[in-house]
Amino acid sequence: MSGLDAFLGDREITSPAEMEALGRQFGEALRAGDLVVLTGALGAGKTTLTRGIAEALDVRGRIQSPTFVIARTHPSLGDGPALVHVDAYRLGTDGELDDLDIDFAHSIVVAEWAAPFAAAVADHWWEVEIDREWNGRGVDSACGTFGHGEDLDAETPRLVRVSRRP
Ligand SMILES: Nc1ncnc2c1ncn2[C@@H]1O[C@H](COP(=O)(O)OP(=O)(O)O)[C@@H](O)[C@H]1O
Ligand SMILES: [Mg+2]
Repeated sequence: MSGLDAFLGDREITSPAEMEALGRQFGEALRAGDLVVLTGALGAGKTTLTRGIAEALDVRGRIQSPTFVIARTHPSLGDGPALVHVDAYRLGTDGELDDLDIDFAHSIVVAEWAAPFAAAVADHWWEVEIDREWNGRGVDSACGTFGHGEDLDAETPRLVRVSRRP
């Protein structure tokens, strides 16, 4: 067992605080060289989860949605590995992720929107899919639970699925 293997499968996360707590558990389990890819719609909770990971790793700097920065390195405040937080939303090709010169071997890399690019930079990784439209009774595909002026920040359950890739 290493990395997120202990967390494989689905769980329901009912609040942002619980999402951050799950991140802290992930952070305890992650080691230098680990790559975690986060997928899920805007507002799903990817950055909230990353904030928890950063707390457990005790790294410098605030975790924010790196909208104008593709990769931000948060060095350890102790002697642990750095956390590199990537937002690949605006990346066009795998080559670009490679071009960022991220020190994958010595860091823990958490990458939002990077699912299509992960294979270019790692042999294996964990994918964490966060489903914002989860309502505890299954995904409501008939009418789409969001999109009718509902508040994206409202506290609603998320389905979090951890898988090992490839
Ligand atoms: N169960 C939940 N888990 C995580 N975030 C939630 C939850 N319910 C509501 N939220 C809200 O959803 C938003 C998630 O934002 P963020 O983490 O930045 O998403 P992303 O990085 O996926 O775009 C936050 O405003 C948070 O308060
Ligand atoms: Mg985000």
